[in-house]
Amino acid sequence: MSQSENFGIYVHIPFCLSKCLYCSFISKPACENEIKHYIDFLCGEIENKNNLFVGKVCNSIYFGGGTPSSISEKYIEKVLKTIKKHYKIVKKPEISIECNPCSVSLTKLQTYKRLGINRISFGVQSLNNKELKAIGRRHNSALAMEAILLAQEAGFENISADIMIGLPFQTKSSLCKTINKLVSAGVKHISAYMLILEDGTKLKQMVDCGQVKVANEDESVALYDMTYKKLKEKGFERYEISNFAIPGYECRHNVNYWEVGEYVGFGVSAHSYYGGVRYANSDNFDEYYVEKSTKEKISNRAHIEEMIMLGLRLANGVSIKKLNMCGYDILKHKRKEIDELLKLGLIAISDEYIKITPDNFGVTSAITLKLL
Ligand SMILES: C[S@@+](CC[C@H](N)C(=O)[O-])C[C@H]1O[C@@H](n2cnc3c(N)ncnc32)[C@H](O)[C@@H]1O
Ligand code: SF4
Repeated sequence: MSQSENFGIYVHIPFCLSKCLYCSFISKPACENEIKHYIDFLCGEIENKNNLFVGKVCNSIYFGGGTPSSISEKYIEKVLKTIKKHYKIVKKPEISIECNPCSVSLTKLQTYKRLGINRISFGVQSLNNKELKAIGRRHNSALAMEAILLAQEAGFENISADIMIGLPFQTKSSLCKTINKLVSAGVKHISAYMLILEDGTKLKQMVDCGQVKVANEDESVALYDMTYKKLKEKGFERYEISNFAIPGYECRHNVNYWEVGEYVGFGVSAHSYYGGVRYANSDNFDEYYVEKSTKEKISNRAHIEEMIMLGLRLANGVSIKKLNMCGYDILKHKRKEIDELLKLGLIAISDEYIKITPDNFGVTSAITLKLL
């Protein structure tokens, strides 16, 4: 089955035990009644949209948030049952769930396994307790390591960890220790995100008034380069600018996003893209409950730009053939820029793909601007 006949399903669970200081995701603590109401409404949305992908098959399901593990596993079971009832799914779908080390137990993880979930993504951020405290995380290093062990005990081998680069108090040495510990624990995938100081977050406020210091741009780039080198040494391939995996453990769901494939997102603030149109559910709970969403037709030009922007973030690069299929001959239209970048060694062309050379991911934005 070709890629274009597959699609991904994203489910947004907008609840967390508490708000981390840096986070601007749509998430909040909630009582049991509110969670139940949300899940009931969410299942209604999943059912109502069941005719969107006639003739197509779902290849991946992703529970993100917020913190999906913060709610009872019975709700995850209900959502998965609803999806399976109303959508055609491939024989071996990738089913991921984002978990916080504080809200998993062996029983919960065993239930996930029984439900067919086969990929766990832990929000670890760091394994240094001072750094964790500075960003308002509830867990400490020991708890994060224990959570990974529990997931393995429950039978999961496809385990990912999110870490962050540029945190207060973070040094090359502390980051290196975090990476070494995660790799030794047997995680197969690491997402390493550069800290973004989001407007309206406590951390941004604290940095703005000099209460706490985070890495500057040069320091962040140095930490990122070290992360890349360290993980490469350990057998992890960088398949996207922020994502590293032991070969075979790349996240299928996210690769579909980056290749500008089709997906549907359910829940408050969830986005969808199908039939050349992007949809966004409202990020306000009250509006979501009255089915408020926005719809934007994506022009061929915008689609091409998105393919270039996201494709250049991938180690494989952007497919010249796929651009041609959209009526855009990048080799002709950007001949001069491509020749310049090739001469500087910033990009390479192989197997019909244009890709950024490994040492130059630090200047991805500048290269992308030239090729748009
Ligand atoms: C939805 S959370 C993951 C699951 C769970 N909520 C948790 O945090 O444990 C997704 C990831 O986004 C990253 N993230 C969130 N806010 C960020 C920010 N301001 N800058 C960089 N990365 C961020 C974190 O690494 C986080 O683990
Ligand atoms: S980082 Fe994760 S746990 Fe923290 S507030 Fe954001 S979604 Fe919730």
